[in-house]
Amino acid sequence: MSVTETDYRDAISRFLSGVTVITTRHGSEIQGITATAVTSVTLQPPTLLVCLNRQSATCRTLIESGQFAVNVLGANQQDLAQRFATKQPDKFAGVPTTAGVTGAPLITGALAHLECRVSAQNDVGTHRIFFGEVLSVAVAEGRPLGYFRGKFSALPP
Ligand SMILES: Cc1cc2nc3c(=O)[nH]c(=O)nc-3n(C[C@H](O)[C@H](O)[C@H](O)COP(=O)(O)O)c2cc1C
Repeated sequence: MSVTETDYRDAISRFLSGVTVITTRHGSEIQGITATAVTSVTLQPPTLLVCLNRQSATCRTLIESGQFAVNVLGANQQDLAQRFATKQPDKFAGVPTTAGVTGAPLITGALAHLECRVSAQNDVGTHRIFFGEVLSVAVAEGRPLGYFRGKFSALPP
């Protein structure tokens, strides 16, 4: 019995997720991508994983830099989620950021920033899984942005 792409998408879209923008810097190049494929892996050492399509410009830059930041978006940042889900070249224009310890842009107003160094990586199908050892974190209060069945929604705090 085989599962079609449509069947799989229909089922997995019922898994409620938070929304992040993964950012990275390599030299003068900065990139960012909206991503829900983000999971905590282990506390010792603090490690998370992100899965990026290898066709993504951010994925290619992340492979070069070996470092990235996870920006956990708040409910009032849906516009950023939509912007970073495009391939427009000026995604950071007008977006307030600061530079983190890895040099990756940290998006102002995000609920959390987790900066990581790539500790392992593996390709599966079209995607690359990056394991990131967390080097630095910062948190803020607020309502999170959620994603369920293809739609964004503000979640309770
Ligand atoms: C809600 C949402 C979640 C997404 N999650 C991921 C993800 O986890 N990994 C991924 O590779 N692309 C994901 N995407 C698609 C990318 O954001 C999109 O392909 C983007 O244009 C890639 O930009 P880039 O090529 O500049 O890196 C998601 C899109 C949306 C709207």
